[in-house]
Amino acid sequence: MEQYIIKGGNPLVGEVDISGAKNAALGILAAAIMTDDTVLIENLPDVRDINVLLDAMSEIGVKVERITRHAVMLNGSGIGGVSVDYELIKKIRASYYLLGALLGKYKKAEVPLPGGCNIGSRPIDLHLKGFKALGAKVTIRNGSICAEAEHLRGSHIYLDTVSVGATINIMMAASMAEGRTIIENCAREPHVVDVANFLNSMGANIKGAGTDVIRIWGVEKFHATEYSIIPDQIEAGTFMFAAAATKGDVMVKNVIPKHLESTAAKLLEIGCEVEEFDSAVRVVASKRLTSTNVKTQPYPGYPTDMQPQIGVTLALASGTSIVTESIFENRFKYMDELARMGAVVKVEGNTAIITGVDGLTGARVSAPDLRAGAALVIAGLAAEGITIVDDIVYIQRGYENFETKLQALGAEIQRINSEKEAQKFRLRIG
Ligand code: EPZ
Repeated sequence: MEQYIIKGGNPLVGEVDISGAKNAALGILAAAIMTDDTVLIENLPDVRDINVLLDAMSEIGVKVERITRHAVMLNGSGIGGVSVDYELIKKIRASYYLLGALLGKYKKAEVPLPGGCNIGSRPIDLHLKGFKALGAKVTIRNGSICAEAEHLRGSHIYLDTVSVGATINIMMAASMAEGRTIIENCAREPHVVDVANFLNSMGANIKGAGTDVIRIWGVEKFHATEYSIIPDQIEAGTFMFAAAATKGDVMVKNVIPKHLESTAAKLLEIGCEVEEFDSAVRVVASKRLTSTNVKTQPYPGYPTDMQPQIGVTLALASGTSIVTESIFENRFKYMDELARMGAVVKVEGNTAIITGVDGLTGARVSAPDLRAGAALVIAGLAAEGITIVDDIVYIQRGYENFETKLQALGAEIQRINSEKEAQKFRLRIG
């Protein structure tokens, strides 16, 4: 099992290029099969979740041609069946996007119930509510969701909870339904907008993505397109907090600064300098950071996917901070690991009370999920001594070349596969 070994203490300094947004890419790849024409997708992140989805798509007959590491040509004309039965697909949450895409295109889909990071109970009732409102019959059979309709008809759908997945999934199916669909209380995340823009570039008629009401006029057919995915705001935010926690100076490049506003606001609040450029953000932490309170919320609020990164940073800030997780109930598992590095934390329900300490010390910790895993790497980079992070397979789901990008900023981090490699690292580092 691969691990990261880290020798902490170096401030991160330099420039880092951000990859394409994983969560936008997952929706866009699924949506690309809705046309029989060939689609070119660029700025694709080379991460595990994306590669698993591409494998699953190729399994059902989609022609997948990886032109470069970051570009893929897809052709969905050869899809042999609407039943996705592939072991790996169960491991990624976004397999559910194939439901909306296949249902929209073929009016029929069968996809295994999704897995994904264990960050709390992750129902998909709202996705199904949307499909049903469009006229589909939805059943669960042998662990799979089956959705089927004679005709999909536009409808008026209210989402009881703001959900990224449900918004994207319903938007995909509705874009090929007859007539107009209105989705209310939509998620406004940048990746929702990116999937809508992509669908529109294939001929869909979607208006209002990025607001809480999306209107969709169904069309019969989509056509070829070429599309470049937006930068990953969570990867960008992770590097911004890595700069802050290590008292560094990092220029985070290839980003859309507007998407990073809540992250930048929190960094400013705790005492960092944040400078905004057209497509870059520079974060400098030159003094001891101070405590703050933060509550995760749907966009444009502070993202749940950035909660562990601010959590580890606040563990080193002066004063007491309160972090409230309001989206997923199981996203504080990293706090026990952080405590083993010397953090003073107390979790009560969906609230973590963090009393900042002067320093953390290296320990062997385990990544409980993707973002918490990345946050523990940040903790290791800021800590004194050696940290080993287990279960980095989670981190590889969503961060491209994580250790290489960190090394280029001066971090002493290495991916290892054995105790021998760990020893070598220790000898090299001295
Ligand atoms: C997406 O998950 C992201 N995943 C998550 O990123 C992210 O944490 C989350 O949105 C919130 O921003 C992908 O895009 C693949 P939701 P998703 O539906 O769509 C409740 C990462 O680290 N809900 O917006 O599954 C749900 O329980 C990952 O990259 C229902 O009640 O999240 C939660 O409380 C992890 N019923 C809230 O809505 C439903 O049918 C928001 O979830 C659907 C959701």
